[in-house]
Amino acid sequence: MQDDLVSTMDRWDQRLKGTIRIGANAAIAVGRAIPGRRLVGRLLPPGWTSALKVFERRISSVQIEITTYCNLKCSGCIRTIKDAEGNWQNRHLSVEDFSRLVTSLPRTDRLHLYGIGEPTMHPKLIELVSFAVASKKFKKISLTSNGLARSVDFYRSMFSAGVSMLSLSVDSLDAQIASQVRAGTDVIRLVDRLKELCSEFPGKIEITTVLGRHNIRTASELFAELDRLGPLRINIQPYDDLGNPGGCLSVEERAWFIHEIPTLARRFRNLVLSGDHLLPSLERCTAPWFAPYISVDGYVTPCGRLTDPKVINFGNVLSSDFHHTWFGSDAEKWREQFVRESPNECAGCPMHISRICPRA
Ligand SMILES: C[S@@+](CC[C@H](N)C(=O)[O-])C[C@H]1O[C@@H](n2cnc3c(N)ncnc32)[C@H](O)[C@@H]1O
Ligand code: SF4
Repeated sequence: MQDDLVSTMDRWDQRLKGTIRIGANAAIAVGRAIPGRRLVGRLLPPGWTSALKVFERRISSVQIEITTYCNLKCSGCIRTIKDAEGNWQNRHLSVEDFSRLVTSLPRTDRLHLYGIGEPTMHPKLIELVSFAVASKKFKKISLTSNGLARSVDFYRSMFSAGVSMLSLSVDSLDAQIASQVRAGTDVIRLVDRLKELCSEFPGKIEITTVLGRHNIRTASELFAELDRLGPLRINIQPYDDLGNPGGCLSVEERAWFIHEIPTLARRFRNLVLSGDHLLPSLERCTAPWFAPYISVDGYVTPCGRLTDPKVINFGNVLSSDFHHTWFGSDAEKWREQFVRESPNECAGCPMHISRICPRA
């Protein structure tokens, strides 16, 4: 199977190089000529633009970075990169600040309780989850975790406190590859952890797999192992250049992988393989309207990729209220500019057709 993948990949590489490049260039041209909201604004009758503004004044999810501590050193992670430069601070969001922050938030569909760091290392995580549940503001509370910092008992308490979904990050179950990309991973322990959690909490566990240069050729082996765990959704995310571009895939490689997904899905019947975000969307990214990110020190940023408040922030929700910050004039100005042309901050974002990784 692995050889098949490698040879079809090479064939696809040749075939796609021309067509994807033309398609991508056309999309960039169209994207530049038609900034989404402005076009919608132009097409709508006059009264409807203010209706659009009202609609925009809601958010669908919010992501809160509750800690910046971590037990691993993944090579593509911005935390590992900045830590190596002596440019990283480990911090936990205090329970008091978390409570203030949640109190100032509007109701949303989803609360994501993680940022850059391992969320289960927060010493009062169960208290934070309980507070969020009691606020009745969120339909779902989810976490993404490396699965290795805490015992299974701790995860049990997390689910009892009200976590609705846990996504476990697994890029490889091969010890050598895992040590390259998720350094510190004990693969045997991770497999045991996966088995226990998947059998005890079916339907509440998902897998996030970051697909990059390091694991694209062995992805089918990873899926074969995950398939043994029973029904599971696998969210396949593209490796993003967060300061270490070596793992980035070209657009052709990502397109090739999407083409392979139906074959892999027929082979691994327990898995729902989602590669929805592997290729950039031709539509304007809507995260800066609907999906705020809040850093461990309370700064609000436009999305879960722009996590460094020093690069961009709309203000601090620990000193000003959320509504004022997210819908305030600074944020609005930034969005207006964003509609006209994607800013430098978005460079390299794999979701963005005009700002794809330099390797692509
Ligand atoms: C920053 S981690 C925080 C949560 C937790 N520590 C974990 O690893 O699951 C959130 C997600 O970002 C992913 N990630 C890290 N570096 C990445 C990169 N360069 N490109 C894309 N995703 C990345 C991780 O694999 C994980 O699924
Ligand atoms: S486990 Fe998560 S936060 Fe920690 S280094 Fe890896 S990706 Fe970054």
